[in-house]
Amino acid sequence: MRFLSILGASALLIAPAFAQTWTLCNPLNTTCPPDPALGISHNFVFNTSKTVSDSFNITAGALTYGSNGAEFTVAKKGDSPTIQSQFYIFFGSVSVIMKAASGQGIISSIVLESDDLDEVDWEFMGGNSTHAETNYFGKGNDTSFDRAFYYPVSSNVQENFHNYTVVWTSDKLEWLIDGQLVRTLPYAAANGGNTYPQTPMTVRLGIWAGGDPGNSKGTIEWAGGLTDYSKGPYTMYVQSATISDASTGKAYEYGDHSGSWQSIKVVTGTSQVNQTIVATETPHLSMAQKFQALPQTTKLAIYGGSGAAGALLLAAILFSCIRQRRKGRKERDAYNAKVEQEREEAYRDQMELREKGLGGWDKKEFDHQGEDALGGWGGSFVPAGTQANALPAEKSKFPGSVSVNEVPSRMQTPSLASPAPQSPRQWSGGNQGGLVQNAGNAYSGGYGGNPNIPRSPAFPLSPQVPQQRSPGGYTNNAGYSRF
Ligand SMILES: *[C@@H]1O[C@H](CO)[C@@H](O)[C@H](O)[C@H]1NC(C)=O
Ligand SMILES: *[C@@H]1O[C@H](CO)[C@@H](O)[C@H](O)[C@H]1NC(C)=O
Ligand SMILES: *[C@@H]1O[C@H](CO)[C@@H](O)[C@H](O)[C@H]1NC(C)=O
Ligand SMILES: *[C@@H]1O[C@H](CO)[C@@H](O)[C@H](O)[C@H]1NC(C)=O
Ligand SMILES: *[C@@H]1O[C@H](CO)[C@@H](O)[C@H](O)[C@H]1NC(C)=O
Ligand SMILES: *[C@@H]1O[C@H](CO)[C@@H](O)[C@H](O)[C@H]1NC(C)=O
Ligand SMILES: *[C@@H]1O[C@H](CO)[C@@H](O)[C@H](O)[C@H]1NC(C)=O
Repeated sequence: MRFLSILGASALLIAPAFAQTWTLCNPLNTTCPPDPALGISHNFVFNTSKTVSDSFNITAGALTYGSNGAEFTVAKKGDSPTIQSQFYIFFGSVSVIMKAASGQGIISSIVLESDDLDEVDWEFMGGNSTHAETNYFGKGNDTSFDRAFYYPVSSNVQENFHNYTVVWTSDKLEWLIDGQLVRTLPYAAANGGNTYPQTPMTVRLGIWAGGDPGNSKGTIEWAGGLTDYSKGPYTMYVQSATISDASTGKAYEYGDHSGSWQSIKVVTGTSQVNQTIVATETPHLSMAQKFQALPQTTKLAIYGGSGAAGALLLAAILFSCIRQRRKGRKERDAYNAKVEQEREEAYRDQMELREKGLGGWDKKEFDHQGEDALGGWGGSFVPAGTQANALPAEKSKFPGSVSVNEVPSRMQTPSLASPAPQSPRQWSGGNQGGLVQNAGNAYSGGYGGNPNIPRSPAFPLSPQVPQQRSPGGYTNNAGYSRF
């Protein structure tokens, strides 16, 4: 697509239509900044705008994205959405998976273009759904138009995605359709190599209306006729492009004004595109993996808890603590449930004793028991320093005279159903009716009243209890005769 010289002076007016074939700086007659390299092979998938914004420049118009990939649309006169790679390849290959646009005069194109206007093309005429055009230019030499060749494609190029590939070395250029070689251009065949494309290339994808009524007759003819915008919009779809740079490095420099491939210098290093792609494609790592990947100095900074890294660590610790607390809460809940069950059993037993008119019971005090998770039963295990808080002085369960040989613990919740047979333990509450004054817990309830009665080694207690006769029948003074 190089018509500037045929079009003569009027070319400038329509130049923007040929969106792909221009250069900002021609190294043949001036010194240009280095060309950023691709330096790697990468499959660019055009399923989001990110691929373009990361690695391409939109040089005209705007793209949309759909299930078919990037959409390049001509909807009206002047539309020519085009993208250009931010990187250059210095030999290599380009495979584009695309579906060409329909519409007479509409040109869908894949163009490799260098700063000194070497060019390799795939072009699709919207009025021709069966063939693909291949072409090339060297140093912008367009004195002849005998280089364009058309090749049939296995199925409709406007309805099906096909793989259009260029393999480019210093020896030859190859064009392949769906993996089938259709054209080979040996170096020498291009005007003895003089017009052989051989300088670092950008990759440009775009669409434009060669059939716009404002274009020259020659251009409109080549494009396949006048474009009728009212029948549009016309859209080219690009799914992906696998682009491989045969050279590795971060930039390419023209060593002189010859434009020969031998004059190109490769600047070693990691390309910007590589860095961007690596950053984009790095999978989302876990906190631990990220930490592992950090340089040692950063790790030390984190260990030291300094700066932002320290804050990160703090967040990690906090997270871990919350998890610990959750775990702790679960354990506590389970523990509390167990305590609750034990309390219920003890309560039932107490009620039974009470029913028999036996034993002390102070529900209010009992309710105080086990309210903390510290394991104190009735307050007896509350650490000395906090005892007063836990149990107000007036509620103290232990009169001064009480001696306790074995403190019942929460974990050994009293169970009336089966006191340990190896008793007697000395749970004597004296004459006060129980271990705790006015309370009567499960250990003491019902045993009070007679300090001489040893605690039963086993149920029933009755054998140890001297039964007493009363005029009205049986009675006893301790209330355990039933057992
Ligand atoms: C640079 O060289 C090209 C090709 O020879 C020529 O078309 C262009 O006018 C030159 N540009 C300048 C600024 O000399
Ligand atoms: C891209 O850059 C990374 C990091 O510098 C490097 O390890 C990797 O080899 C490069 N990728 C390729 C394909 O060269
Ligand atoms: C785009 O394609 C890439 C590569 O195949 C894939 O990893 C990613 O999930 C795709 N994104 C969307 C939004 O489809
Ligand atoms: C892409 O655009 C940026 C910002 O405008 C510019 O610096 C860079 O040279 C462009 N890349 C190419 C290959 O034209
Ligand atoms: C498509 O292009 C080929 C090659 O130039 C040609 O043989 C064929 O007739 C064209 N088809 C149409 C419908 O123009
Ligand atoms: C341009 O190409 C034509 C045809 O291939 C050739 O005859 C001519 O010498 C070339 N011009 C230059 C300056 O290389
Ligand atoms: C496109 O064709 C090239 C050349 O045969 C091949 O290497 C590449 O894997 C193909 N790409 C896809 C996506 O099929």
